[in-house]
Amino acid sequence: MAEYILSIDQGTTTTRAIIIDRQGNYINTASQKFEQHIPKAGWVEQDPLVIWQSVCKVIDNVMEHSGVSFSQIKGIGITNQRETTIVWDRKTGHPIHNAVVWSSNQSLAIVNQLKEEKIEEYIHEKTGLVLSPYFSASKIRWILDHHPGSQKRAENGELAFGTVDSWIIWNLTNSKIHSTDHTNASRTMLFNIHTLEWDEYLLNLFHIPKSMLPKVYPSSHVYGLTDIDLFSEVNIPISGVAGNQQAALFGQLAFQPGQVKSTYGQGTFIVMNTGFEPKLSKHRLLTTIGYSIGSKVTYALEGSALISGSAIEWLKDGLNLFDSMDDSELLALEAEINSSVYVLPTFRGIGAPYWDSSARGAVLGIDESTSRRELVRATLESLAYQVSDIIELMELDTDILVDILHVDGGAAQNNLLIQFQADILGKTVRRIERLETTSLGAAYLAGLAVDYWRDQNELTALVSEKEQFEPHMTDKERQERLHGWHSAVKAILYYAK
Ligand code: G3P
Repeated sequence: MAEYILSIDQGTTTTRAIIIDRQGNYINTASQKFEQHIPKAGWVEQDPLVIWQSVCKVIDNVMEHSGVSFSQIKGIGITNQRETTIVWDRKTGHPIHNAVVWSSNQSLAIVNQLKEEKIEEYIHEKTGLVLSPYFSASKIRWILDHHPGSQKRAENGELAFGTVDSWIIWNLTNSKIHSTDHTNASRTMLFNIHTLEWDEYLLNLFHIPKSMLPKVYPSSHVYGLTDIDLFSEVNIPISGVAGNQQAALFGQLAFQPGQVKSTYGQGTFIVMNTGFEPKLSKHRLLTTIGYSIGSKVTYALEGSALISGSAIEWLKDGLNLFDSMDDSELLALEAEINSSVYVLPTFRGIGAPYWDSSARGAVLGIDESTSRRELVRATLESLAYQVSDIIELMELDTDILVDILHVDGGAAQNNLLIQFQADILGKTVRRIERLETTSLGAAYLAGLAVDYWRDQNELTALVSEKEQFEPHMTDKERQERLHGWHSAVKAILYYAK
């Protein structure tokens, strides 16, 4: 009987499931959007029970018309929105608060207070990260601070913390397993990426009891078996776990140092494989764990544009400039290409390398001829400018000259965006045919742990079609446009002060 891998991709706005076969073909896919809560401007929360229900739903849907039975699933891979923080009661399994989402700024005051304690260097050295409300540590602190008695309960071992992967594993195993993987742990700001242990000093600094934290394992590892009652009386190994950006790196088969991918989702995340040694950035990029298999840990550098796909959604739903996401490309194609409009969709602060949570967005360079077309085009271009800035810094940090950028994610379907990306980078951009590299990466990690695939070489041999975009812009134009972009960034940073 044929065997398959089931991949669960729990993203910021959508949960997906994909069944894939040994050749990497999709047998079936399912997806479901779920609700976001914005209790205040700048805050973002989700209901963890709704997240779990969406996982159950997509598994049901993907299996239903696939012709595949649960007994044919050899392993499950989980990939997830990272940093999003859930604290739950170990006995009842009930979360004590909504999930505080990665993009939420609600713990900003905690972070600002810590800035005065001069611990940024320590955080960077040990965790590879920068002090920011983006990561889980201050979100855990915020949840404990806002629920009277919860600090005590946490100290008594009654509460568990997890990123979304841990929450899914906990529920899939009927509360038996509280674990995470190296890639997700490396986004909490509590994990020492050199020793691969939770950092006692940081736990004390945030007053987070160690008993709350999950056990950490490699990304490709058998975490445990699903509960017998869940899937037609069969226990399926959960055998791969990785944060979604690292899973996309793996799904792009970027196994060599210097290989870089950019995933255009709600945010755009650029990750470069830097090999077996962590490389600390001199330019405020993040050092993170790319993936781990057995005792081998591969590190990565990361930079991101925190708002990108969601900026296009804002044009559609917030400003009502068009009706469907596909229209964005059509409108942008009709824009005046020599317009010097810049849109900075930095709605909730700006990430690497500036890391200013107080920065806000801006539209610059408009005149009376500016129409929605130029606004749409400039917003799409803003995604590419941010990627280009980050790749330049990666080259400086690693002394590696990037020759090809591998792209994926929903917005990578937009040809205008990807051509502009190649133009503004002055480099070849390669777009993989199967844009869901995140799910593929989790599936590959899961398959390796249960010997579905022998090794990474076997994965590399799986052919996947790629389309190539070559740069056509002249150097002069590129420099002028980049100059305009950097001036616009300076303006929002100035305004934020
Ligand atoms: O770090 C946040 C990132 O993991 C979110 O990814 O694609 O769910 O927006 P996405």
